[in-house]
Amino acid sequence: NKSTKKLTIGFAQTGINDQWRKSMIKDMEIEVAFYPNINLKVLDGKDNIENQIKNLEELILEKVDIIIVSPVKSKPITPYVEKALKAGIPVLVVDRKIDGQNYTAYLGGDNEQVGVNVANYISSIAGNDPKKIIEIKGLKGSSPAYDRSISFNKIINKTNNLNVVHSIEGNWEEYSIKDSLKSFLKKEKDINYIYAHNDRMALGAWDVLKELNLDNHVDIIGVDGLNEPNGGIQLVKDNILKATVFYPTGGHEAIKLAIEMLNGEKVNKNNTLETILIDSRNADIMKHQFDKIYEHQLDIIKQQEKIKQQEDTYTKQSTTLKIVLAL
Ligand code: FRU
Repeated sequence: NKSTKKLTIGFAQTGINDQWRKSMIKDMEIEVAFYPNINLKVLDGKDNIENQIKNLEELILEKVDIIIVSPVKSKPITPYVEKALKAGIPVLVVDRKIDGQNYTAYLGGDNEQVGVNVANYISSIAGNDPKKIIEIKGLKGSSPAYDRSISFNKIINKTNNLNVVHSIEGNWEEYSIKDSLKSFLKKEKDINYIYAHNDRMALGAWDVLKELNLDNHVDIIGVDGLNEPNGGIQLVKDNILKATVFYPTGGHEAIKLAIEMLNGEKVNKNNTLETILIDSRNADIMKHQFDKIYEHQLDIIKQQEKIKQQEDTYTKQSTTLKIVLAL
């Protein structure tokens, strides 16, 4: 019976330790809970490509019904996505891309739009005098780092007064950029903007600026815009970041799409989600909206738990009834 057969979505996640990934997984779990016959299995790639390859191989061997993967890096994961397809398992790539178009569907935030948003924002606040920018990049070989950079630099290069004077390669984590930023700023103090490819590295940049007493001279712009105690929206509200770009995790949407794929429906191959720039002008509104969504999610979780309890009681009662009738 098709409707009662348990189906497994295997998710080879990049890593499970940062808040952005955690929030993505949480959204997925909430969505999956609506489908009692679907099981979500999340494997932790520990932000390491070798681990993630092992995880993909495991999901292929296990013959899960569909694979979701968010590649640590594009190139090395590509042959394993192809391997899954050859084994007859559809693959939904999320957030970070693979090389080429050999996958079933892709879903993620528009990373080129992220770079465009930040470049336009800086030119809108910079005035006409020459201004210097440092770019702090995400992990080399991961597609958002590439897309967020190319689109940004294309616009900045067309301006007369804005210049990217230095770029630093990070690995998406706060610690990865501190030393090189510090040694650069010791030589060159006259910097106006820092564009960091995510809010964790942006926070690392702020630590360094504070240490060097430069925090009042440099505006930092990050990406992710999570609505959490240390997330981007709060950092904007606290004047630590000048702005952030909300980059949706797509957790709910990914599960919805995966289920359509499992049902054999025809889905769009490439699905991009909008990004939004958040600064002091809209941070409160955004926080309010996200708080509301969060409350709504808590209600849903409570309702799901109640339904589960009722189902359990019903199953117990009907088994008791069957036993009584059999006597
Ligand atoms: C989370 C993260 C985010 C970033 C995204 C890019 O692991 O580093 O901060 O926006 O991945 O793929």
